[in-house]
This record gives sequence, structure tokens and C-alpha cells, in this order.
Amino acid sequence: MERNIKKVVILGSTGSVGTQALNIIRAFPDRFEVVGLCNGSNTSLLKRQIDEFNPSYINTLGEIEPGYGGSLSLPVEEIVALPEVDSVVAATVGCAGMLPAFAALEAGKTLALANKEVIVMSGHLLMEAARRNNGVIIPIDSEPSAIWQCLEGEVSDPARLIITASGGAFRDRSWSSLHDVTPQQALQHPTWDMGDKITIDSATLMNKAFEVIESRWLFDIPFERIDVTIHRQSIVHSMVEFSDGSLKAQLGPTSMGQPIQHALFHPERQSNKNLPKLDAVTMGSLTFERMDESLYPCFQLALEYGMKGGTYPAVLAGADEAAVELFLNGHIKFTDIPDLVLKTLSIHKNISEPSVEEISDSARWGIESTLALHKQSTIVS
Ligand SMILES: NC(=O)c1ccc[n+]([C@@H]2O[C@H](COP(=O)([O-])OP(=O)(O)OC[C@H]3O[C@@H](n4cnc5c(N)ncnc54)[C@H](OP(=O)(O)O)[C@@H]3O)[C@@H](O)[C@H]2O)c1
Repeated sequence: MERNIKKVVILGSTGSVGTQALNIIRAFPDRFEVVGLCNGSNTSLLKRQIDEFNPSYINTLGEIEPGYGGSLSLPVEEIVALPEVDSVVAATVGCAGMLPAFAALEAGKTLALANKEVIVMSGHLLMEAARRNNGVIIPIDSEPSAIWQCLEGEVSDPARLIITASGGAFRDRSWSSLHDVTPQQALQHPTWDMGDKITIDSATLMNKAFEVIESRWLFDIPFERIDVTIHRQSIVHSMVEFSDGSLKAQLGPTSMGQPIQHALFHPERQSNKNLPKLDAVTMGSLTFERMDESLYPCFQLALEYGMKGGTYPAVLAGADEAAVELFLNGHIKFTDIPDLVLKTLSIHKNISEPSVEEISDSARWGIESTLALHKQSTIVS
């Protein structure tokens, strides 16, 4: 059977998800063509990717010789909207990925979404942009990907979504004992190997609240019907309960390879010898524990402001991005993260029905205000 080659743009090509997406594309040269690569400042890796994948277009925040490798530099929003592009992998970290994601959807592209901050910030507007332009959003994040896979082929609404959480680096410690943990300790995730920001967000459980907000919009289900359960093995990536009491779960190895490949190939499944497999006989016991939300201040505050809506979720995402950066650079303590994020949220003047531009501005305001609040506190003390 003759198949079309899918033409793909990768945003965040030099990151953890971006490089894994390119690993999949490398394994199927007759199925994918890389039209564009966009990144931040890791120019040496971007150059190697240009040498290998020959994209026609690039966008980078780093310094690169004009026309390097025959590629043309264009604004990201233009690259994602090019007529030849079929699919855009959104794997930029943080708020910077929002406007390119909207540009892709406005141009009717399929958006393979890893960059969860985008949907946290702009939930219903992002879904509306997809609907209006006949675009599709396919989650890459493993938990929403699992729910997406459980819902494929179903015609009835789910009764409940059950998102699994490993519990992060400090799952067996009380919040009050975490005051002096170092960035190196917080970056030791027990089951996943990911970029720095999401690893810290996993340790604070901010990431789990982001997944709840992401799922609320992606699957159009109220917050009240989304639960989180601690599942230490990270093998069940999430579950869906149906009205007849049936529970569907998606299981897989602790690897982003499967969800990324699923989003790239959707709706096909393909054998890929490079991906790890899960052996049901040797995988051992699976445990599920009730999550005590009161132990995780970031989870609680993120859900509270995620539910309030308006521009609060954008400020939440921006404030968290700045606070995680301050922690990684040794400027604040791990336990200062929720306090600083809350301080920023509490001085924000919410806009209840914001435009895309107001959401983008609010995220930037969240980043800048958090940095300013931190600076003020260091001057006072
Ligand atoms: N890693 C995972 O397993 C995983 C799983 C689920 C969801 N996600 C989500 O996927 C997204 C990416 O995560 P990651 O772990 O891959 O992050 P990462 O390893 O830190 O990579 C981030 C990518 O974004 C680029 N970037 C950073 N700031 C940018 C900016 N201002 N403008 C343009 N590009 C910028 C980086 O470029 P340079 O490196 O060149 O500076 C890099 O390519 C996050 O939203 C995360 O929550 C990740």
C-alpha cells in the first residue's frame, strides 16, 4: 500500500521530547520528512540535527550562520503554518510555546502536544481553535495519551478519568522535611528521565495538577470527575472508568517513545525495534494508593487557580516557570516554590474571558512579577 510521507515541524527539537521525536522519525525515513526544526539556545545540537534531517526551515534563539545546511530562518509562527506541513510536534518547555501552538491550529495542522503549559494556560481557547479550523490535538504527555488511547473507539462519555502519579523524587517524604533539598536531589526522578523543568514540577506535584487541567480541556470533562492516584511503578499510564463500572487502563514501559510514536503515526500502530517492550510476566506487582492532596501545596494551589480560570492559569504557569528556574539556580529553597507562586497569583488582577494575546501577556507578567517579588524579598532581607 502506498502511503504519504508526513511532513513534520518539531518545536523544541533539542530537548528531551524533541530528540525522542527525531529518534522515531529517524527509524521511519519513508514515512516522515522534517520540514522545520525550532529550538532555544543549544546551537551545536541543532546544527547536528540540520546536518542529519535537512529541514528547509529553522528558528533558533542561538547564533547560527545564515543559511546553515541550506535551511532558511523564519519566525516559528510562519514555519508551523506553511502549506506543506501536516503535523507540528509542540515540545518547547514552558509558556514560550503558546503562540506557535495557536498558529499551527489556526492553520489547520495536527498538533502533537507535549508542551502541557500551553493547554494549562489557554485550555478552552486552544480547543476552540482546533475545532474552528478542523485541526486535531493529540497528546504526547503519557498520562493524557493513555486516556486518549482508552477512549479511542468509545462512543459513550467517560464517567471518570484516573490519572496515575509516580509521586516524584520525594514521594516518601513530608513537605516540611524538604526545605533544604538540592536541585540535584530534586532532579532524581524515580521512574522517568525528562527535562529539568518537568522533573522539578514532578517533585512538587505541580506537574500532576497541570495534567488534571490538561485532561479537563482535552477530554471536555469537569474537574470533579478527574482523580489522581499514586502508582509508584509508572506502568499504568492512566485509566478511564465508564458508566457500566468498567475500567480501561493503558500500560506501557516507562518510556516516552510509545506516546510520541502514537501521536506521530496516529491512528496507525507500527512496530519499532528501538522502543522498549513491557513484559507482563516480569513486570512485577502494580500498586495504587490514594493521594493525600494536603501533602502537596503546589498540587492544591495549581488546581485551585486552574479551576478559577480566566488569566489565572497563565499566571500560574508563568510564576511556576520563574520559581522553578530560581530554584534550579540556587536562589530559592524547594519549599519556597509554592509560596512564591501563590504570592504572584494573589496580586494578579484576573481577566475572566481573556483573548489569546491577554493570556500570553499574563504568562509573561507571571514570570516577571515572580522574579520581581523574589528580588524585592532579597533586598528587604
Ligand atoms: N521530557 C518528557 O519526558 C516529557 C513528558 C511529558 C511532557 N513533557 C512536556 O514537554 C515539554 C518539553 O519538555 P522536555 O522535558 O523535552 O524539556 P527540555 O528537555 O528542557 O527541552 C525543552 C526544549 O524547548 C526549547 N526551548 C526552551 N526555551 C525556549 C524558548 N524560549 N523558545 C524556543 N524554544 C525553547 C529548548 O531548546 P534548547 O535546549 O536548544 O535551549 C529545548 O529544545 C514540556 O512542556 C514538558 O512538560 C515532557
